[in-house]
Amino acid sequence: MHNNIRDQFPIFKTKVNGKSLVYLDNAATTQKPQFVLDAINEYYTKYNANIHRSSHVLAKEATERWKEAHQIVADFLNADSYKEIVFTRNTTEGLNLLVNTYGKQNLSKGDIVIISEMEHHSNIVPWQILQKEIGFEIKYIPVNENFDLDIDWLRNEIQKEGERIKVVSVVHISNVLGTLNPAKEIAELAHRVGAFMIIDAAQSIPHIKVDVKELDCDALVFSGHKVYGPTGSGVLFCKENILEKLPPYMGGGEMILRVSKDGFEMNELPWRFEAGTPNIESGIVLGETLKWFSKAVEEMGGYEKLIDHERNLMTGVIDSFDGIDWFKPFGKIETNNRYGALTFNIDGFSFKGCKEKVRATVTSEIPS
Ligand SMILES: Cc1ncc(COP(=O)(O)O)c(C=O)c1O
Repeated sequence: MHNNIRDQFPIFKTKVNGKSLVYLDNAATTQKPQFVLDAINEYYTKYNANIHRSSHVLAKEATERWKEAHQIVADFLNADSYKEIVFTRNTTEGLNLLVNTYGKQNLSKGDIVIISEMEHHSNIVPWQILQKEIGFEIKYIPVNENFDLDIDWLRNEIQKEGERIKVVSVVHISNVLGTLNPAKEIAELAHRVGAFMIIDAAQSIPHIKVDVKELDCDALVFSGHKVYGPTGSGVLFCKENILEKLPPYMGGGEMILRVSKDGFEMNELPWRFEAGTPNIESGIVLGETLKWFSKAVEEMGGYEKLIDHERNLMTGVIDSFDGIDWFKPFGKIETNNRYGALTFNIDGFSFKGCKEKVRATVTSEIPS
């Protein structure tokens, strides 16, 4: 991390086990810069109020900032409007929302949903739950020997199965392998047969430029906490013409305009998909975080420079493993198609009990 950026993270001033903190678990969650902590504090000390419900000063400010944060996210993703941005708690909630609205509305027995062998559980299990109810088929794009997706398999499948394929949902950058998948090409293939195309951008947002128009995906999801924002903040982007046709996900306050004994009228987009009191401070601060992140990337010289910097860090780590024979990476480590994650096996050890064996036998070989 560039030093002036590192200095903005108070956690790096703390010692862990008497040593300066080195944190490599960013794929799970990122640490937070001071201004994120300050912005959360500012919300609770200056304008804590529920949104879209009351007309007093605090509520007006919170509501305005909530809407503004949606616009910031729309600009960040190059979406057409804040109406295409639904705030969720995380990527998992965004995917569950899509499965239980688009999936329920559009899938029947005999249809096919294509995901891949490198998905996070949150892009597998919700489909499997709905599959039990509806009986569609789930197919997985295979991972080849280089740990990339087999796009030829997908091309053949699209040709063979045609309009039986209703959904193609893939991870942009794999949390396990760091592989960047050709999401734009996958979207183009999916659209040939009219399938709905979803991108799980949980790992790509912090590493590369993500532009929903350029990718031409129908929907995209990510988590704020993986891009230096607060936990409890997440985003679902969906093209407006699709989002406006989806059935409600959760019922309650905020998602309705009017309710009577006979029924209800849904609120406008995107609020109709944000039932109940959300994580107000997290959503607002996510907007601020994305502005900070864009500025930091710009000051570094753009995404190319960010990618170069991360590659150099990765090369340094890989070099430090040189000559250690138990280090068995997955796939070709010199590839230019890996972002953020380095995946390797410790030769001769299975995961269960691995830690104890490593400690007992080869601790001295593990680079500090
Ligand atoms: C690629 C990918 N998708 C989805 C998720 C789920 O994210 P969350 O737990 O924030 O919902 C993760 C988390 O690690 C991820 O890496």
